Amino acid sequence: MENTNKVSGTTRVYAIIADPIHHVQTPAAMNRLFSERGDDRVMVPFHVSTKDLQSVVTGLRGIQSLDGFIVTVPHKTAIVELCDSISDAARLVGAVNVVRRSENGSLHGDILDGEGFLAGLRQRGVEPLGMSVYLAGAGGAAKAIAFSLAAAGVSKITIFNRTACKAEELTRRLSTVFPTLELSVGSYDPSGHDLVVNSTSLGLSADDILPLDVTLLTPSQIVAEIIMKPAITPLLAAATEKGCRVLDGMPMLLCQIELMAAAMATNKNERNHEHI
Ligand code: ATR
Repeated sequence: MENTNKVSGTTRVYAIIADPIHHVQTPAAMNRLFSERGDDRVMVPFHVSTKDLQSVVTGLRGIQSLDGFIVTVPHKTAIVELCDSISDAARLVGAVNVVRRSENGSLHGDILDGEGFLAGLRQRGVEPLGMSVYLAGAGGAAKAIAFSLAAAGVSKITIFNRTACKAEELTRRLSTVFPTLELSVGSYDPSGHDLVVNSTSLGLSADDILPLDVTLLTPSQIVAEIIMKPAITPLLAAATEKGCRVLDGMPMLLCQIELMAAAMATNKNERNHEHI
């Protein structure tokens, strides 16, 4: 929070909207980035419940010093309808996690979970092109990651989710955009895949069950996590014991922070606006 004491009347403001909000790590990371760059920008947390989301967003349109906001649990789907335009990625995923406010108060939504995950992989030297992927989860983050991995040229995606119909729906949506991609609904068994990804929320709490059967992991597999806290989840600990290379969730957050800072600062003329 080094830069908050430099907040002045010219400071451009960003918000993060969530409920609950106490756990969010983005403001600290974003403010550190602004500070390092000497940007006259600050991010503040807005604790907003579902019933108030619409009225808050209406009010944000009129805040002329606000350039954008991040939207997280549980508002990523509801915010879609409240934006004036959304990106192709957000339309495919059906969710938005970053909103840019233009000078006239219009709101453009984008989703960076998938791009952030991909950038995090590549930052660690993992190129997903041609890989077969096992994806645990079919929620908002899973959808974004699945579309980004498909666009990056993976050869196959197997999706396993507690609620099987959501995995089936995600494979259907993927197949319409990527008709040649091998897609299937899987089980707890991640074997036979190069890259194993946990995109469920399992691992956030110490007493969570594991998202997949770790006894079936083999040393040639790479296991990646979207959970940032704890850094080493029970899944990653078990995968390390099985000899797998593991990638924690922090690079995804850090890469998203960079993408978000860029997305929210981008002039409206520099990006494609697609109206919903
Ligand atoms: P996010 O936007 O962060 O992805 P989400 O859309 O609520 O959040 O998705 C959470 C994911 O974690 C889902 O895949 C969810 O499975 P369901 O679709 O069956 O709900 C998964 N998840 C959460 N708690 C779980 C649990 N106790 N056991 C298994 N899967 C769980």
